[in-house]
Amino acid sequence: MNFIIAPSILSADFCKLSEELKKIGKFPDSWVHLDIMDGSFVPVITFGSPLVKSIRKHSSNIFDVHLMVNSPEKQIPLFASAGADYITFHIESTNSPLNLINEIKNTNLKTGVSLRPSTPVSLIENLLPDLDLLLIMSVEPGASGQTFVESTFDKIKFIKAIKERKHLNLLISVDGGINEQTAEDVIEAGADILVMGSYFFGTPFEEVENFINGLRNKNIS
Ligand code: DX5
Ligand code: ZN
Repeated sequence: MNFIIAPSILSADFCKLSEELKKIGKFPDSWVHLDIMDGSFVPVITFGSPLVKSIRKHSSNIFDVHLMVNSPEKQIPLFASAGADYITFHIESTNSPLNLINEIKNTNLKTGVSLRPSTPVSLIENLLPDLDLLLIMSVEPGASGQTFVESTFDKIKFIKAIKERKHLNLLISVDGGINEQTAEDVIEAGADILVMGSYFFGTPFEEVENFINGLRNKNIS
């Protein structure tokens, strides 16, 4: 199976971030997923662009910034200069998604849009040709360690079908509740990228490695 993992450092040990980044680096194609929460779009506050800038020099993996903030337009230049490679904003956080997409593209970064579990695909369907990545939330944004929402499978399959029909160069990323029970089905449904928080950092590393490598060696059924 072909897929990229994007461990979320929200579930990492913040006292040992450089070691945690090294764990991610053991999977050379993996991405570092950065969950940015502002205490307004979601209740929790996590961290901002200064932290991203500071850890950028400790990793050569792709930095995948997931903005869960109101007024995302204010954050785009800050995360661009902090070293983001992808910036993803929530469709529910803006009335002018095309402006934001262009703003991100103008900084030469890859552009993503994210959907809460209850947000219908119809809201973003016309944006898909302009995007590099669609981040489908499989839990309510705001916390790690939640249970995967089953209806996500239909959403992934639906987007995958559009992607194939329209020959889009779009990565499908799925975020929330991904672990040994859900990962394989998520890939089979059409995900290219698996965001992993509590599973990646809360499981002995050898076990994670065996599981990921085992999945890679499996043929798609
Ligand atoms: C939730 C975040 C997720 C979260 C994933 O708001 O966007 O990236 O950290 O954590 P797990 O894998 O534990 O659900
Ligand atoms: Zn996320």
